[in-house]
Amino acid sequence: MRTIAIAIAILGTSLGALAQEGELDAMRGHVPLLEERTPEPLYNVENNDLRRIRAYPMQPPTIPHKIDNYQVDLNANRCMSCHSRQRVGDTQAPMISVTHYMDRDGNFLAELSPRRYFCNQCHVPQTDAPLAVENRFVDVAEILRQRRETQE
Ligand code: HEC
Ligand code: HEC
Repeated sequence: MRTIAIAIAILGTSLGALAQEGELDAMRGHVPLLEERTPEPLYNVENNDLRRIRAYPMQPPTIPHKIDNYQVDLNANRCMSCHSRQRVGDTQAPMISVTHYMDRDGNFLAELSPRRYFCNQCHVPQTDAPLAVENRFVDVAEILRQRRETQE
């Protein structure tokens, strides 16, 4: 009992010290640890049906439509009801690429590979939320262009 009480006392003082420091984590909006943060509003999910360009050829494309209530579990994969090879004629959705039908040894399967079953592991919708951190990404095409210019 006594050791527990001491542990709690130590935890209490260290939390107090942390809270005093205040600006610990920018992701929490610089709110001290022991204060409750006003939650951010829920931002709108992009639903304009316009495919975004990819930042590099192997990037999983972002999802340009809402995915609310699109169930993906052991029994059903709602995404595949539009994006599978057999369904794209009716839905006009882009087919999942051939890599989604490959196993880890590069063999082509007739069905979606289990490695690609949980779509949202790699594909995510976008929101109109303001950026939490600055983005300094430069497209490789821009880097190549700059290099060509300096070599001339
Ligand atoms: C009702 C049919 C339908 C369902 C269900 C659906 N999609 Fe789509 N998806 C589309 C269509 C159509 C497009 C083409 C752009 C558009 O119209 O939104 C698309 C576009 C995409 C793209 C962009 C592809 C690219 O090349 O840029 C991704 C990624 C995607 N969907 C992933 C998903 C995922 C993941 C799910 C399940 C959570 C899903 N979709 C469920 C119809 C669907
Ligand atoms: C492990 C990561 C991963 C998972 C899981 C995954 N994808 Fe992808 N997806 C990618 C990558 C990477 C690309 C781009 C390169 C490629 O085509 O392989 C892509 C490409 C796509 C494209 C564009 C195809 C094209 O030719 O333009 C669609 C549509 C898509 N995925 C839908 C899905 C759907 C639907 C699921 C779930 C059934 C899914 N993906 C699961 C990584 C993934």
